[in-house]
Amino acid sequence: MTGTVPAATVTSREEVCPEETPPGPCAVVILGASGDLTARKLVPALFEVHRRGALPRRFCVLGCGRTEMNDETFRQKVRPRQVTDPGAWERFSDLLYYVPLSYDDPTSYVAMAQRLLQLDALHGTSGNRLFYLAVPPTLYKTAARMLGESSLGKEGPGGSEPWTRLVVEKPFGRDLDSAVDLNRSIHRHFRERQIFRIDHYLAKETVQNILVFRFANAIFEPLWNRRYVDHVRITAAETLGVEHRAGYYEQAGVLRDMFQNHMMQLLALTAMEPPCRFEADPVRDEKVKVYRALRPFPVEALRDHLVLGQYGEGRVGGKPAAAYREEPGVDRNSLTPTFASMKIQLDNWRWQGVPFHLTSGKRLREKRTEIVIHFREVPYSMFRTTLGDSILPNRLTLGIYPEERIFLTFQTKSPGPRLCLREVTMDFHYIEGEDARVMDAYEKVLLDCMLGDPMLFWRQDGVEQCWKFLTPILEECEACRDRADMLKTYPAGSWGPREAVQWGPGALEKPRDGKES
Ligand code: BG6
Repeated sequence: MTGTVPAATVTSREEVCPEETPPGPCAVVILGASGDLTARKLVPALFEVHRRGALPRRFCVLGCGRTEMNDETFRQKVRPRQVTDPGAWERFSDLLYYVPLSYDDPTSYVAMAQRLLQLDALHGTSGNRLFYLAVPPTLYKTAARMLGESSLGKEGPGGSEPWTRLVVEKPFGRDLDSAVDLNRSIHRHFRERQIFRIDHYLAKETVQNILVFRFANAIFEPLWNRRYVDHVRITAAETLGVEHRAGYYEQAGVLRDMFQNHMMQLLALTAMEPPCRFEADPVRDEKVKVYRALRPFPVEALRDHLVLGQYGEGRVGGKPAAAYREEPGVDRNSLTPTFASMKIQLDNWRWQGVPFHLTSGKRLREKRTEIVIHFREVPYSMFRTTLGDSILPNRLTLGIYPEERIFLTFQTKSPGPRLCLREVTMDFHYIEGEDARVMDAYEKVLLDCMLGDPMLFWRQDGVEQCWKFLTPILEECEACRDRADMLKTYPAGSWGPREAVQWGPGALEKPRDGKES
């Protein structure tokens, strides 16, 4: 069963969706501009926004990095491989500049400041600056300090123009102490309102839709609690392996890489109370309340609540895939987990007793990110005598990727003379009926930073609350004597360690193609 909306009831897009207003004048300053992130994500996103006419009319980009380059070589370096509209690229690349930067050398920042003054004069960017830290996390503190000490972090009185903002990518520390220390260092030179901590999951359309779905519809909220919900599964399964990121991943592992940030955001959006206003701080206040409600993990009984795994050799998408320990740059005896499944409880009125199962792993069978609300069973089945106990409870699936869809499963009678039940779904496909293209997460993130809207960014208290929850787990996992024994190997291309599947919390839903692995 597919739910289609009668044309007459669809409100036109203009009525509900105001036009995009381009941000005011500004320069985007990318520190780490010779790196991978700049060429792969930041420049393509800015180019696309420029092509759409959504960038400020007075705008430029200043790339900075250790590599010696001039404006022209920088433009060549970051030119996307496939440009469908070369004219548009020429117009955009005229706005790109470069200055070499040695991160801990004050004279470098003087040169950067001078270049920015010239660009302000040339492009009318009014001294408004967005500093994007696309550098390794070990350089965050140095870069923030040097920007601050060279007065580049200064903003107008009370946050007025000219504004300066600092964009920080995850990881925000590697445990509670380092996160507090990082925040403290950055705060010496930047106020919290100037700091934009990115989580690209928050910029995904389907993730933003969670709050709209929950709070712009009256029918789901009465069911969204312990009375009707049995358990919730939040899954971010990936088919990709560690790729070329072993240097980072070996230190991070799946708990730091996916749980401390993306999984916690998905949890908060699913579990939070309605904020009083749809504004950055009320929304972020409600998220923090969810993190405060996280029941401290019973580290003494870790195995009852957490399964960790690491991928072994296998096949993904029909192709052979190497074991994690065979990947370039990975220690042959590595104990870094690439899979985790944990059972979380929230101590509050709405969710008391409802387990949240959070699962994420690399080199799994499918790329699938979703939140599934499993409702309770019917309290009494009058069909038991004819059908036995086989009535499946309702499920509401919020598909984030690749299926950008929401669907509700429920039971109906199969047509025919006999009483047979069948499970059907009522479906909503996110982009169906829309001509709008789904905006790339980095486009949204960059635009929101330029607009100064922190709604989709982590606030310091949220980061620290999540570390407070995860740090004891990490410490226990990394220090325990049976660490190697805790780490279960799973074949690449499977649904994760057998322990997780049998144990329950990790059990992923049956694949949509119906085939078991
Ligand atoms: C990143 C992690 O933050 O998110 C990666 O560092 C992971 O390891 C990626 O692959 C997943 O993002 P997405 O958008 O593909 O689900």
